[in-house]
Amino acid sequence: MKIIMLGAPGAGKGTQAKMIADKYSVPHISTGDIFRANIKNGTELGMEAKKYMDQGQLVPDELTVKILLDRVANDDCKNGYVLDGFPRTIPQAEVLDEALAKLGDSIDYAIDVDVPDENIVNRMSGRRACVACGATYHIVHIPPKTEGICDRCGKELILRDDDKPETVLNRLKIYHDQTQPLIDFYTAKGILKTVDGTQDMKDVFAAITAILD
Ligand code: AP5
Ligand code: MG
Repeated sequence: MKIIMLGAPGAGKGTQAKMIADKYSVPHISTGDIFRANIKNGTELGMEAKKYMDQGQLVPDELTVKILLDRVANDDCKNGYVLDGFPRTIPQAEVLDEALAKLGDSIDYAIDVDVPDENIVNRMSGRRACVACGATYHIVHIPPKTEGICDRCGKELILRDDDKPETVLNRLKIYHDQTQPLIDFYTAKGILKTVDGTQDMKDVFAAITAILD
């Protein structure tokens, strides 16, 4: 099963992608998490990506596409995967489609987690993320058991650099300009499914499993 998660920054793509990955035993692949791991490790890729991410801009397609295609060529992706945050532009989607078509393959579902802009800024300022394992929390809606510590791996939780309100507004603008056109792209392919992302996260997940089961 090959799934793409679409949705604005903070819509809950990562939250839902992790639950999908656990239930259906497929890897969760987040280009944002890959970039953040590289920034943390001080790699050349991380340094380059950080310049864009801190401004709320997209990392250039050339860099992003290569990383993603390398990752999905891994053995653990043979039975499928859930992509979170990729593709984010029409050229990225086209490259992915071409790469899969060469293998006689294609994406099964593009799931759009729909949340209006008004809800987003509030969610982001409350988000805390684990740099070690990528788990996300919300200080009010989904608090960790111990403040500031990841339930899953015990490491420290941080407020992401790009979750400041002014950067979030920029990310939302870029989402509408560059990523939202993918909704029409996957609708035309007949694989777009929309779920209401303003519900409780368990109800969002129930709506997704009703599509996938
Ligand atoms: P990325 O890491 O992908 O960030 P994003 O798309 O902006 O999305 P987020 O991770 O902020 O939100 P999410 O939808 O995963 O929501 P979450 O589940 O955490 O990308 C970061 C940057 O990397 C980009 O800006 C770009 O620079 C670069 N990049 C990455 N991929 C790229 C690509 N393909 N091309 C170019 N550049 C790329 O939830 C948010 C919060 O809400 C959490 O606190 C969560 O606990 C809470 N929450 C979740 N669900 C609910 C719910 N139902 N009710 C209440 N609260 C909820
Ligand atoms: Mg995310």
